[in-house]
Formats: sequence, C-alpha cells, structure tokens
Amino acid sequence: MEQDLARVIVTPEQIRARVGELGAQISKEYAGKNLLMICILKGAFIFMSDLVRKLDIPVETDFMAVTSYGTSTESSGVVRILMDLERSIEGRHIMVVEDVVDTGLTLKYIIDNLKARGPASVKVATFLDKPSRRRVQVEPDYNGYVVPDEFLVGYGLDFSEKYRNLPYVAVLKQEVYS
Ligand code: IMP
Ligand code: MG
Repeated sequence: MEQDLARVIVTPEQIRARVGELGAQISKEYAGKNLLMICILKGAFIFMSDLVRKLDIPVETDFMAVTSYGTSTESSGVVRILMDLERSIEGRHIMVVEDVVDTGLTLKYIIDNLKARGPASVKVATFLDKPSRRRVQVEPDYNGYVVPDEFLVGYGLDFSEKYRNLPYVAVLKQEVYS
C-alpha cells in the first residue's frame, strides 16, 4: 500500500491532538444540550468514532450512507441516500460528521435534506476541508485540517474502497488513479 502514496500530510499524532481539541470545543459549546451526531458513511466512520470518544457530554449517534455520482475522484453533486437515519431529527440539535468537504456539493445536499426534517439546529464537523475546490457555499462549523487540492486517502478516505484503514492521511500518487 505504501508504494501508492506520495506523502503523509496528517500524522497519527496530529490526528489525535486535533480530534481532542475538537472534542473539547464541541463538549463546551453543547453543554446542556442533547446532541445527535450523524455520521456520513462510509468516509466519516473513523473520525466519528474517535470524535465521540472525546466528548464529555451526553451524545446520541445515527448513521446515513450516501453516494455521489461522478468519476472516481470527482463528485457530481447528484447524491443518492443509500441508507437513511433510523430516527426522526425533528426538534433535535444535530451535527453532521463528514470526512472531507471538497466541492461542497455532497454536504449541501445533505444539509438541505436534513433541514427539511425540522431539526432545532444543524452544524457540521469535518475532519478535512479543501476550500480551494468549493463550488457551492457551505462552511463547516468545526474543521480538523485545511488541506490542499490533492487526492487524499486514509483515516476513512478511500480510493475505490481501499486505503480507508490507514491511520494517517496521505496523498495518493496520481499514477494510481489516472
Ligand atoms: P464533494 O461533494 O465534492 O464535497 O465531495 C465530498 C465527498 O467526496 C467526500 O465525502 C469524499 O467521499 C469524497 N472525496 C472528496 N475529496 C476526496 C479525497 O481527496 N479523497 C477521498 N475522497 C474524497
Ligand atoms: Mg464521503
């Protein structure tokens, strides 16, 4: 696997430190509220599992699987829900947990879809943000790291379903996907 990677851009130590900071910040800002975290599968499963363990407030979890049509490294903005939430979010304080916000098309679709269900509030936590690639206006409320416009794998992010298990984030060599 390592031979497919150009370089590591977020190390396991950096991940641990940043997720800890985000957990502390979210715990503080949601103290006294009943937070429902929504993991966007599959990419966010590792970030979500680390993040919830850094919260010292009561939290509930739910899961939603989406797929975005497009080529293997570019999303189209046409999103399909493969698996929906188990429970209603009406009147709830929800936080959407994503692996990476790239063009923003997927997140925009998810936010609009969830807002239509009448939650009390909607915020977004993403582990990675690629603001230079944005095509629609969406801003994560909590962000781990801002990253450059390169195709990344690891810590939940995949190429063709592989590399999600890497304990760091790395740039995938262009020759692997082009
Ligand atoms: P967006 O709709 O362009 O913002 O894309 C969001 C989704 O595309 C993410 O949830 C990822 O599944 C995928 N994605 C975007 N950039 C990367 C990347 O660098 N590596 C792996 N997946 C990515
Ligand atoms: Mg994803």
